[in-house]
Amino acid sequence: MLRRLPDQSGRKVRFRFEGEPVDALEGDSVAAALLAAGNRILRMTPKSGSGRAPYCMMGVCFECLVEIDGIPNRQACLTEVRGGMAVRRQRGAPGLPGEAGDDPD
Ligand code: FES
Repeated sequence: MLRRLPDQSGRKVRFRFEGEPVDALEGDSVAAALLAAGNRILRMTPKSGSGRAPYCMMGVCFECLVEIDGIPNRQACLTEVRGGMAVRRQRGAPGLPGEAGDDPD
């Protein structure tokens, strides 16, 4: 459903999502790169565990929360992709590392 415009060009960067390589263009947000690569589900809800996809793409809805390089609660739509970064789906509602209530699982 979502795909890149045909005339887009730029320096390619590669990162990992759930351990799998994803190619993006420099300047992409993590959310845009993942959607363009066909990955719609970026987080799982705390109560039902259902999958959620980015919605607003401008930092308002928080549906795009992911873990980036081990740090949870990162908004994928506001984070510029960087070569070598490791992105994982956020599962549940973890606190920040070292914070009371931290739940990395
Ligand atoms: S998609 Fe809405 S905050 Fe990221």
